[in-house]
Amino acid sequence: MQSRSFLAGATLAVGSYVLAAGVVAYALPGATTSAPLLHADRQAHDHPHGHGHSHGHAHFDPDQAEQLTGPFGAHGDRHPPAQVFATAEDGLTERRRRSMSAKSGHFRALSATLLSEAGGDDIVQIHADALALLGSQIDRLFEIASPAPDGAAGALPAIWDAPERFALYTAAFADEAARFAQTVRDGGDLVNGLHDLRYYCVACHADFRQR
Ligand code: HEC
Repeated sequence: MQSRSFLAGATLAVGSYVLAAGVVAYALPGATTSAPLLHADRQAHDHPHGHGHSHGHAHFDPDQAEQLTGPFGAHGDRHPPAQVFATAEDGLTERRRRSMSAKSGHFRALSATLLSEAGGDDIVQIHADALALLGSQIDRLFEIASPAPDGAAGALPAIWDAPERFALYTAAFADEAARFAQTVRDGGDLVNGLHDLRYYCVACHADFRQR
C-alpha cells in the first residue's frame, strides 16, 4: 500500500515537473515515449554502461530535448529524466544506482579535498553529513526485490535471498558513515576515516554486486 501511494506521489511529481517545464514537452512528438530517453544520459560514469538491459545510446534526436524556460532564456535539456519507469523494480533500481553514484560523488569530493591543496576544508563536513544521511537510508534502496537479470551487472539475488546477512552490511555502512561524520566534527584523522569507510563500500560490492 505504501508503494502505491509512493507511486501516486511520483506520478504527481512527474506531472508537475512536466508542467513546470512547459507544455511544449508534451506537444513534442515522441516526448512521452520514455524508453529512448531512459539511458540517454551520456554523463561520464565511473563504470561502463554494462547493466545488461537495452540502452538508447544510438543517436540523439534534438526534437527530444525537453524545453525549459527561466530567467537565463529557453534551453533544451538533452538529458531529461525518464518520465516513467515501467515497474516499481525498475524505478527502485534506478534510484539505487543514482543514490550509489551520489555516495560515490560525496566520497570522491571528500578525497579530492583531503588529498589536495584545493582548500574547502569547511565543506568536508557537508559531504560527510551527506554520506551519513544517505548511509542511514541505504537499506531502503533494497526494499523491493529487484535483482539484475542473470549474469548482468547490478544487484545480486543474494541480497533478497539472505536478508539477515545483507542487513549486517547495510547497518555496518550506516554506522561507519555516521562515525566518519563525527570524526570530522571532532577534528579527527580524516584520511584514515575515509579509508575505513571505503572498506564497507568495497565489501558489500564484492559480496552483493555483479560487475
Ligand atoms: C550494503 C551494500 C552496499 C554498500 C555499503 C555500498 N554499495 Fe554501492 N552498490 C551496491 C549494490 C548492490 C550495487 C548495484 C546496484 C544495482 O545496479 O542495482 C551498487 C552499485 C554502486 C555503484 C554503481 C551505480 C550505477 O550507476 O550502476 C556505485 C558507483 C557505488 N555502488 C558506489 C558505492 C560507494 C562509493 C559506496 C560507499 C561510500 C557504496 N557504493 C556502498 C551495494 C552497496
